[in-house]
Amino acid sequence: MGPKNQIVRKVADREELTNVAAQEILEAARSRRNQCEDFTLVLSGGSTPKGLYTCLAQDPFRSTIAWEHVHFFWGDERHVSPDHQESNYRTAHETLLAPLAIPQEHIHRMKGELPHASEAADQYEREIVEWFALQPGRKPRFDVILLGMGADGHTASLFPGNAGAVDETDRLVIAPWVEKFGVYRVTLTPPVLNEAAMVIILVSGKEKATTIKNVLEGAYDPDRFPVQLVRPSQGKLLWLIDQPAARSLSSDRFPVSMDQGASSFSSDP
Ligand code: 6PG
Repeated sequence: MGPKNQIVRKVADREELTNVAAQEILEAARSRRNQCEDFTLVLSGGSTPKGLYTCLAQDPFRSTIAWEHVHFFWGDERHVSPDHQESNYRTAHETLLAPLAIPQEHIHRMKGELPHASEAADQYEREIVEWFALQPGRKPRFDVILLGMGADGHTASLFPGNAGAVDETDRLVIAPWVEKFGVYRVTLTPPVLNEAAMVIILVSGKEKATTIKNVLEGAYDPDRFPVQLVRPSQGKLLWLIDQPAARSLSSDRFPVSMDQGASSFSSDP
């Protein structure tokens, strides 16, 4: 049911998911370096990517990725200060940015500490427009966007039933109210996610098995499953799903291990 450029790779466990994701980032970064360009990497929040960030900060990735050319952005952030336990920036800083000694000018974080989340969204949108030197109406093309998926089908901070966020087509960054948690969040919008050269969605854990089956094999219903909105128009979409999360998928369509490479299937909704 996904976009034509969608690849679904089932991996054994979270460790393999981490290693495959790190390798994909390495290869994407190398191709940008070959074009002598900076590499823009959008980090995800949540717990799944923590192991990936730690892995990227260690060899072989520490010494094979040209980190001096990488600029870090975020897909979403909580409305908290950067040192708060819930901060996506804090997680990335502790596991990746500090270990790699990434310079401040390469770190473009959402300022969750601002009094109103809408201010943080507006400021981040300005920062993106300025950094990409965007013309009016244009969207930034990030090289790699990392995303997770909640058991409710959300991604970034695009949550089910949040029509204002799910249907946003003009803004780059918004600050939706998330009823489920009774908080505001700051998030990139679907058009920005879909402008990326590559999106990698990390899905791990048995609690996501039913949702990922509905998302990949069920009807296209982005109000119910906002992660279905992720359909890069001119980019690659790679799903990395570990065995516990993939256990309900129609297994004949996916290779069991990375040795068999990626399966790609596509069909329009
Ligand atoms: C966040 C994330 C969110 C996350 C999913 C999956 O800020 O929490 O951006 O979209 O990716 O909730 O989280 P886990 O990886 O913890 O399951």
